[in-house]
Amino acid sequence: MIPLCWRRAEDRLTVQAQARVLATSALPLEAVAAGQLALLLEDGSWQLTLQGRSWHPDWLQPDRLRRYRQASLKREPLARACGLKAGQRPAICDATAGLAQDATILAVLGSPVTLVEAHPIVFLLLRQAWERACEHPDFGPAFARMRLFQADSRHWLQQQASAPDVIYLDPMFARADLKAQVSKPMQMLRRLQTDWPLAASEAAALLQAARERASQRVVVKRARRAPPLLERPHHVIEAGNCRFDVYMKN
Ligand SMILES: C[S@@+](CC[C@H](N)C(=O)[O-])C[C@H]1O[C@@H](n2cnc3c(N)ncnc32)[C@H](O)[C@@H]1O
Repeated sequence: MIPLCWRRAEDRLTVQAQARVLATSALPLEAVAAGQLALLLEDGSWQLTLQGRSWHPDWLQPDRLRRYRQASLKREPLARACGLKAGQRPAICDATAGLAQDATILAVLGSPVTLVEAHPIVFLLLRQAWERACEHPDFGPAFARMRLFQADSRHWLQQQASAPDVIYLDPMFARADLKAQVSKPMQMLRRLQTDWPLAASEAAALLQAARERASQRVVVKRARRAPPLLERPHHVIEAGNCRFDVYMKN
């Protein structure tokens, strides 16, 4: 687990308390080793920091807002893969929420979305971005309907009394599939996730658990040329450099 750190002395107690919750270390920023990724509390915001550059997810960046405004079933293959259609907005569980770039689109298009994320620091950044996005005058109400859980989906799905209509999975892409993702934020995120790799067998177990629980379908995001996670899907929706494999319930 990466360390948590503060720049200003008045943030020390908050950082130390959060570090205890996450069972990791807390230290002043200047004590973080060069080249070490850390989570910094600054101006009331948690940010990943690496070699002097900091970043935190923000659902309200101009390009994200533009995408929400333009979102439609025609433009969003993920929405079609999840079975959104005129008059139908299935309840979706995104069981590998990450930073919810995908789930936010489904929420904006009107589906109730439950997010489950296992990694404690990804979850902390996800929750922070969500809390802020809920304040947005146009899209806040859609985000406020989302529910967030920090858990391992393989167990969480089995514990739920009611089944979601759709379960969406976006397991980590293999390293070879990440050539295009070279932005600083993505690099930071990759480094954060190296201590939490999702082995192919775990991804397959997740798909099994999802197929047992979803009442309508399971959708799996894959790199365009990657093999299916388990067996051949019932149908496939192509989407640029990725595709969505759809497994229907009988
Ligand atoms: C590729 S990212 C998902 C990105 C996401 N679709 C988005 O739009 O931002 C995969 C995420 O799944 C999480 N994850 C992996 N296995 C999990 C599990 N068993 N339960 C919950 N989350 C899991 C990882 O921690 C990681 O954050």
